[in-house]
Amino acid sequence: MTQTTSLTIIRPDDWHLHLRDGAMLEGVLPHSAAHFARAIIMPNLVPPVVTGAHAAAYRDRILAALPAGMSFEPLMTLYLTEATDPDDVEAAHASGLVKAVKLYPAGATTNSQSGVKDFGKVQAVLERMAGIGLPLCVHGEVTASDIDIFDREAVFIERVLDPLRRRVPELKVVMEHVTTEDAVQYVAADTSSRLGATVTTHHLIINRNHILAGGIRPHYYCLPVAKREKHRLALRAAATGGDGRFFLGTDSAPHTDPAKLSECGCAGCFTAPNTMGLLAHVFEEEGALDRLEGFASRQGPAFYGLPVNTQTMTLVKQDHPVSHPAKIETGAGPVTVFDPGFEVFWQVQG
Ligand code: DOR
Ligand code: ZN
Repeated sequence: MTQTTSLTIIRPDDWHLHLRDGAMLEGVLPHSAAHFARAIIMPNLVPPVVTGAHAAAYRDRILAALPAGMSFEPLMTLYLTEATDPDDVEAAHASGLVKAVKLYPAGATTNSQSGVKDFGKVQAVLERMAGIGLPLCVHGEVTASDIDIFDREAVFIERVLDPLRRRVPELKVVMEHVTTEDAVQYVAADTSSRLGATVTTHHLIINRNHILAGGIRPHYYCLPVAKREKHRLALRAAATGGDGRFFLGTDSAPHTDPAKLSECGCAGCFTAPNTMGLLAHVFEEEGALDRLEGFASRQGPAFYGLPVNTQTMTLVKQDHPVSHPAKIETGAGPVTVFDPGFEVFWQVQG
């Protein structure tokens, strides 16, 4: 059998990305724009991107930070709070600016203090979104301190997500960065065609042992935290299985090394520079290279009702391991690039 050494796919999109602001934005944006045509931009800045006006201003800052000659379309999101105004959401959607609203349960992760505590208070916004076909992107973890951190996603589905979807059945929902077999099964069992899920690159590669066994690895700490091996395998099967409801959202989430390596380190893996090569590696391992295009380039646009990109990307398998810089330097400080812990031979061409 001849080995595949080159793969050309439609240019991919990233359906879940943190770009931050200021010097960090300038440092990380070129790494996403080099490979991805578009990305859903997370709104968890300080302060968060809450209104259409905030989103428009943030979009302008992103485009201003884009190096000359690069093309990249930021797909903006609004951060849902208990004070979000349905009319503002509708106007931001009608103008084409905003492609989703993000739900962070209060306290779930980085900069989520303004998130939702009382879901009754966002019912009117959710109903409006359902009416206009605007998706809700969900960080699916409960925050109750009595729930074990490894159970927070599964409990969220039962206590929050499923009841929410029953209250607003027409709402399109993306379960972001799924990390459990429970989430995979919940999405796969849905028959409404209004439920999708993003899967990160790093959750296809690490399980919780990688974070904790043989020394603590802060650069593998993210939220939702990686779970045990059976969950990683379920994610691999979902991502590589050709089911259109699962698509790529890297959740590339840069923090400076001092912020990661402190006594209370930040959650997030920075995968923008090497995600596509890592995905080719994973899909090849699963015998599913022919499904990478669906996962990274077709299924996301289909869920969001957007056209697929017209450009292509070529990945090439080298006969020697590809090396990436261990970290990038940004004006905000150094940011360590996700290290998969194995040799990778696939690389984006050019
Ligand atoms: O690991 C994470 N980092 N998970 C999130 O949900 C937020 C993100 C961040 O903003 O750093
Ligand atoms: Zn995220």
